[in-house]
Amino acid sequence: PVKAVVFDLDGVLTETSKAHFEAWKMLASELGFEVPDELEDKVRGISRLDSLEIVLTYGNLNEVYTDEEKVDLANHKNDLYLDLIKGYTPENLSLGAVSLLTELREKGIKIALASASKNAPFLLEAMGITAYFDVVVDPASIENGKPEPDIFLKASELLGITPGYCIGVEDAYAGIESIKAAGMTPMGIGSKTVLSNCDTVFSGLESFHNFLLDHSIIK
Ligand code: G6P
Ligand code: MG
Repeated sequence: PVKAVVFDLDGVLTETSKAHFEAWKMLASELGFEVPDELEDKVRGISRLDSLEIVLTYGNLNEVYTDEEKVDLANHKNDLYLDLIKGYTPENLSLGAVSLLTELREKGIKIALASASKNAPFLLEAMGITAYFDVVVDPASIENGKPEPDIFLKASELLGITPGYCIGVEDAYAGIESIKAAGMTPMGIGSKTVLSNCDTVFSGLESFHNFLLDHSIIK
């Protein structure tokens, strides 16, 4: 029996992966180089500073900036990102998000958020779904980012539900690794090619919701 569903945010409950990618692209262009489209999948689930290192490799600039300058660059990327998401409303939720969250609550299944993003609380508020969550893990309280299990383990601890009773939902390869390492059941949203490490991948939340019902995972 499943007692909790632990959601990732970006790319799962809302399609912010595009906005993250656009912001990195703008930063790169300001620094004088271009990033390829493959970057969008490479930074899925990866923390801001780790993502910056990935971005800088495309300009061969990893050794050029000091740690302080890198923090400034990452903050600047965040300003560009915030500008892209500042107008977010419930309309920016992925299709089927509200109906899934509503049904989970009705069925007594706990709901948690395990997002690496420091902007997650802002987005939950802007999209009007904060109240659905029993637990929102603060990524600042986590030592090791995805693919390490820390954030999903923290969600399990705060929920008071052991990982074996939890489903983790992710759009990122690193996120699925994190879920598996934590001992939760992984379910993927998005591309089977990107999520080659996950047996159960859905095109969106609606088909995930149907799967939970069809297989009596929620009753
Ligand atoms: C999510 C996104 C990543 C992003 C990370 C940190 O995991 O998928 O692309 O880098 O959050 O987000 P933040 O909003 O804190 O920069
Ligand atoms: Mg994600």
